[in-house]
Order: sequence, then structure tokens, then C-alpha cells
Amino acid sequence: IAVAYTMAVTHPRAGNIGGGGFMMIYHKQSNQFYAVDFREKAPQQAYKDMFLDSEGNVDNQKARFSIYSAGVPGTVAGLESIYNTFGSLPRQRLFQDAIAYAKNGFLIDQDQHKVLEDKKELLRKDKQFRKLFYKKSNNDIIPRKKVVQKNLAKTLTVIQSSGVDGFYKGKVADQFVDFFQQENGLITHQDLTNYQPVWRTPIYGTYKGYDIISMPPPSSGGIALVQLLNILEQKKIDQLKHNSTDYIQSVVEAMKFVYADRAKYLGDQDVVDVPVAKLTDKTYAAEIANKISTQNIIDVSTINPELLDTSESLETTHFSIIDSEGNMVSCTYTLNFAFGNGMIAGKTGVILNNEMDDFVAKPGSPNGFGLLGNEKNEIAANKRMLSSMTPTLVMKNGQPVLITGSPGGSTIITSVAQVLLNVLAFDMRIGQASSAARFHHQWYPDVITIEEQHDGNIVEELKERGYNVKHKSLGITQSIEIDSGNLYGKSDPRNLSSSTKAY
Ligand code: DON
Repeated sequence: IAVAYTMAVTHPRAGNIGGGGFMMIYHKQSNQFYAVDFREKAPQQAYKDMFLDSEGNVDNQKARFSIYSAGVPGTVAGLESIYNTFGSLPRQRLFQDAIAYAKNGFLIDQDQHKVLEDKKELLRKDKQFRKLFYKKSNNDIIPRKKVVQKNLAKTLTVIQSSGVDGFYKGKVADQFVDFFQQENGLITHQDLTNYQPVWRTPIYGTYKGYDIISMPPPSSGGIALVQLLNILEQKKIDQLKHNSTDYIQSVVEAMKFVYADRAKYLGDQDVVDVPVAKLTDKTYAAEIANKISTQNIIDVSTINPELLDTSESLETTHFSIIDSEGNMVSCTYTLNFAFGNGMIAGKTGVILNNEMDDFVAKPGSPNGFGLLGNEKNEIAANKRMLSSMTPTLVMKNGQPVLITGSPGGSTIITSVAQVLLNVLAFDMRIGQASSAARFHHQWYPDVITIEEQHDGNIVEELKERGYNVKHKSLGITQSIEIDSGNLYGKSDPRNLSSSTKAY
């Protein structure tokens, strides 16, 4: 919780109190798993066609970079609920670093400097972003070396003393709602007071005798991960050479089915039915596995065959923790794009998310990650938008094996899956497993996204087999491997500068 509050200050493009996320928890003493959902919700006044223009086309600007892009934040409610259940640090200590960095400032590193440069045209439009993160230089503005967030420090101080009410009620809430009124936005006091995090039953799966514990809807992550691993277990993928052309083809074909099902069946299960049991069923996976072979490529649907460029600067963040008692946490939280919708909510200092773009604005019209969907994930009042975030825990015979997760939008699921496959099927240590070259297919667009680190002729061979292929860096995993009581941490060597580069 302290990490999450601190990153809201020092990693402001993704760490947040104005966004939402998911935390998987293993509580050692009770030997229980928990999936805490603090995903943002659509405001009460949100409606299905709110991002369509007068001709019925999706207005992406409105969906991604406007006051309407922001969902009702869930992070503070989630963290406070977890604190009230399992917290052990005194509140003063919990907020100490976050408040100190907000008040006294933190230094911008090279990576953050680059993102602030990349996002300058968007962020300079917001008065507060301009003031806090940039300074004048000749006729231009450049990122500051040190960022001080006094208003955010005040907001965090109120949360420190008043808990969840410090954010959703009282002065901070007044300032937050004032900003929405001033900008003609939809979020009201009622939206804030109504927000509740949900403790959900995790998605449980198995792969080669390992137990996989991951996030249920409104994230697609857990279901998609388990479905993919089920198919690949059937295909005995561990008998192929890791990252060979046959391996990539088999995994890619499985990914297509998983993402097609994601688009068809997944949404907020508080509002729509999600066939969780069927999707995570081994027999269903076997049916799919039977259709996959290295001899043929399955034709994806051709609803809209145009290839998308999803090179938008994107960012989410993940952290994995295990403590001295053996409790574990796997948490992914986000503003969606880097710096969300590019707005700071008035005097609160809170950076706003643009998570509403994770809904389906219109069937057939892809979101910022090129993802499709249908009415299961259409916008409705108080509904949670579908996510790909996949905070995951792995156990074997009741003992912890792995904690992992990643940013990367639609590529989160496949990045997490590949870290798991590398460790569980190919016996790699977490260092090698995290560094190994990755690939991704999401059914639509019909293209394999593949990292440049792959061995020599792989790309040529995949093209010869008939695939569309493009290069891009995939995911930034943060993992802990637990083996015979030893802990091995691995922060992905990929960094944002490479992951946002468009090829
Ligand atoms: O919830 C989701 O799936 C997205 N909003 C996550 C966005 C993301 O990972 C951007 N980072 N690279």
C-alpha cells in the first residue's frame, strides 16, 4: 500500500490515486487467496453511445483525452480496504514517503524525461501539468528536473488521517467534483460516495501441476491466461524448442482463440454474464487445441482487416512483493495511457485516468490497444470497463513459486503468459525468463507483434508461413521467483523508451 501511494507521486504517469487496478493477495496465515478489484467505474451519467459523434462514428479524442475519458477512481478505496483488512504499518509510516516526495519533490529520471517530452503537446494544454512538470525554455517548455506536487501532498495528508473518506468525501471530493463541474464532466459527489472496491474470487487454473491464481473479471487477464495455458498444456508446448518458428506459430494460434473469446464473452460480470467456467475448462481448451497445428494458419475474422498502429505512448505499472512472513502481493494499477487523459483534477493534484476507452465505444471499433468487443463491454452507468491487467501468483503443492505481472495494455496477458511458460515449461530462472524475447497476437489486428531480440531468421520464416509480422517491445514484467526459500527478484530489462517506440 505504501508502494502504491508512493508511486502515485514518483511514477505519476501510471502510479496513481486517480485511476484504478487490481491486487492479488496471498495471506500466509490463513492460506487464502484474494483478488481485490479497485477498477474504475463509469459514472452514473455515462451511457452507451457517449463517445459517438453525430454521424455515429467513435470520437477517439473524446474517449481518450477528454474529461469524459475518466472513470470514477478506485485506487484509494481499494488500498484502504486492503489496509483495513491486512495492514500492519502505522498510517504515518504508510504515507511518509509519498507525502515527502510530493512536498519536497522528486528527481525526474531519463525515462520520465522522455515520456514528458513525448507527451508535451497533450500535457501542456492542462494548466497544472504545464506548471508542475515543465518549465519555460526560450519559446518552448521543457520537462523540469525536479517535480514538486504540493496539492497532491495535501490530498495525501487528508487520506492519511481520514482514510477512504478523505478522498471520496469532504474537501478533496469537493475540489474533485468542482473540477468536473467546471469542465462539464460527468463525475458527481454521488459517484464518489457510491464507489466500492470488490473482493472477488480469484481465477484458479493449473498448468503442469502448478496452481495459477489470477484476476477475474472485470479483468480479462486471469481467464485469458488460464485459457491460454490450458490450450498450450494440451499441445505439449514444452516439447517444442523455445521461441522456434513452430513454437511461436502454436502459441500464436492459441492466442488468436483466446483474444477472440475475450472480445466475445468478457465484460464486467456484475452487469453481464461471463462464462468463466467454460472459458477456463480443460475440455474446452482441448477442443481449441485440436484445431491448432503447425501445418496451417487459422484465418481471423475479417470485420475490419485494416492493420492498426497502436504505438500510442502507453503506460501502466506493476509491483510484486513478498514479505518476511510469506505474504504475497501482485498488483497492477493504471491511469490507462501515460498520464491518463492528460488532466489534473483542480486543487486535488490528482492526475485523471482515461480508462473509459477500455469500454467498447462501438462494436467493431477498436480501442487504444486495438481491442474489439461487443455489448458485454459496452458503456453503462456504474459499470466497470474490461481490463487486460493480469496480476498473478503461482504455487506448487501449497508453496509459492512465482509472483508476476506487467503493463502493456492488450499485451499484458501474453507477456505474463510467456514469463510463466518460460519458468514452468522451460525451467528458466526468472532472470532469463524475463529477458527472453516475446511475441503477441490478439486475434485482431491479424499481426504477430514480435520483439527484435528473436533469433535471426524467425521473422522471415513466419512471413514465409503467411503471417503479418511487426516489431515492437512487449511488456515490462516485475517478478519474484521463490525457490527453496530463496527469493529472486527480476525487474524486466525492457524500459519504456523501447516499449513506446513505433516500428
Ligand atoms: O486495463 C487495461 O487493460 C489497460 N487500461 C491497461 C493499460 C496499460 O497497460 C498501458 N500500459 N502499457
